[in-house]
Amino acid sequence: ALKTVILSGGSGTRLWPASRESYPKQLLPLTGERSLLQETALRLQGYAGDLDPQALVVSNEEYRFIIAEQLRQLGVSAARIILEPVGRNTAPALTLAAHVAHAGGDDPVLLVMPADHVIGDIAAFQRAIAAGESKAAEGALVTFGIVPERPETGYGYIRTGEQLAGEDGVRKLVEFVEKPDAETAARYLASGEYFWNSGIFMIKASVWLRAIAQCRPDIAAACAKAAQGCSSDADFLRVDAEAFRACPADSIDYAVMERLPAAPELGQGVVVPLSAGWSDVGAWDALWAVSPKDEAGNAAHGEVIFEGGRNNLVHASHRLVAAVGCEDIVVVETADAVMVADKRHTQDVKKVVERLKAEG
Ligand code: GDD
Ligand code: MG
Repeated sequence: ALKTVILSGGSGTRLWPASRESYPKQLLPLTGERSLLQETALRLQGYAGDLDPQALVVSNEEYRFIIAEQLRQLGVSAARIILEPVGRNTAPALTLAAHVAHAGGDDPVLLVMPADHVIGDIAAFQRAIAAGESKAAEGALVTFGIVPERPETGYGYIRTGEQLAGEDGVRKLVEFVEKPDAETAARYLASGEYFWNSGIFMIKASVWLRAIAQCRPDIAAACAKAAQGCSSDADFLRVDAEAFRACPADSIDYAVMERLPAAPELGQGVVVPLSAGWSDVGAWDALWAVSPKDEAGNAAHGEVIFEGGRNNLVHASHRLVAAVGCEDIVVVETADAVMVADKRHTQDVKKVVERLKAEG
C-alpha cells in the first residue's frame, strides 16, 4: 500500500506578512479557498493505486489545533498527526513517520510531501507517483526531478544516468548536490544535465529506517527512542519529548540523498521527471507565477480592484484593496500589516522579518 507523509514544519519568512511564525505559509489559503496543507492532503484523491486512506502529518506541536481543524474541514479525519516538541529538520521528521508506519510489521511505500508546495496538474502528478511507486516498492529511493529555470541556490540538484526498465523516462540517480553555491548552480543550469530536486520522495518505511541507521546512527537512535515513547491522544501522536529534543537536526537531502550514489547498499536512487506545474512558493513572485491571472497578468486574492496596470499580485485578507496603473507590484494586506513590494525584489521580504525580529 501507499501511505502519504506530509511534512508541515517550516515557517516561510519570505511570505510575510501573510505568513508568520504563529501561522506559517502551509496553513494559509494562498492559491484559492483551501490552504496549501489542505491541497496537499487532497492531492492523491482519485489515485488509481492502493492508497492507505490514513495519511500521516508531521508537525510542530504548536500548530496541532489548526492542522486538525483544517483536516477535519476536508473530512480527512483518518489522518494522524505526529507532534514534534521542537523542529529537527526533515530527516528526523521522516524517521518518526517511518516508525509509526512500520509499527505492527507493515511496510508501506511512503510518499513524502512538503505541505507548502503547489502542484498545478494533478493528473500529471499522479502519473509520476504511479511510476515512482513501482520503483519504491522494489526498494528504491525515489526523487522527483523538475526542469530548472534559474540558478537557484536554495534547491537540491540531481543528475541522472541510464534509463531504467519498466517506466518511461525513469532514470538512475547518479549525483545529488544539495544547495550548491551560486557558481556551481549556474554551471549545472548551463550544462542542461541537472534537474532540481522537488523535495518529494517515495521510499519504503523499512528502506528509510535502514538508510538513516547507516548514514546517521545518532538520528536513528534518538528517533527510535522518541517513537518508542509515543503516546496517542485522539488523532495526535506525541513522541517522547526528551528523546526527540536530544536528536541532532538534519535534512533528508544531506543525511541520506547526497550519499546514495556512493552507497549502493542503501538502495537504488531513482529519478522520476515531474512536469506538473510544481512550485514551492518560496516568495511572493512565485505565488504570482502560479496564480490565475486576468488578461493583463494581474492576480488577485480577496476583495481587489485593478484599474489599469499589469502583472501585479494583490493579496487582501481584511479590506478592499484597489491598485491603479501599477506594474509588477505585490501588495499584501493583513489585519496588522501591509506590505508593498516591487515584484523583482520579493526575496528581500525576509530582510524585513529579520529587522522586525532584531528590533523586537
Ligand atoms: N515536520 C517537520 N519538521 N517538517 C519540516 C521540518 C521539521 O523540523 N523542517 C522542514 N519541514 C518541512 C517544511 O515545512 C517543508 O514543507 C519541507 O519540510 C522541506 O523543508 P524546507 O526547509 O522547506 O527545505 P528546503 O526548501 O530548504 O529544501 C528542500 O526542498 C527543495 C524544494 O523546495 C530540499 O529537499 C531541496 O533539495 C529541494 O530542492
Ligand atoms: Mg522549502
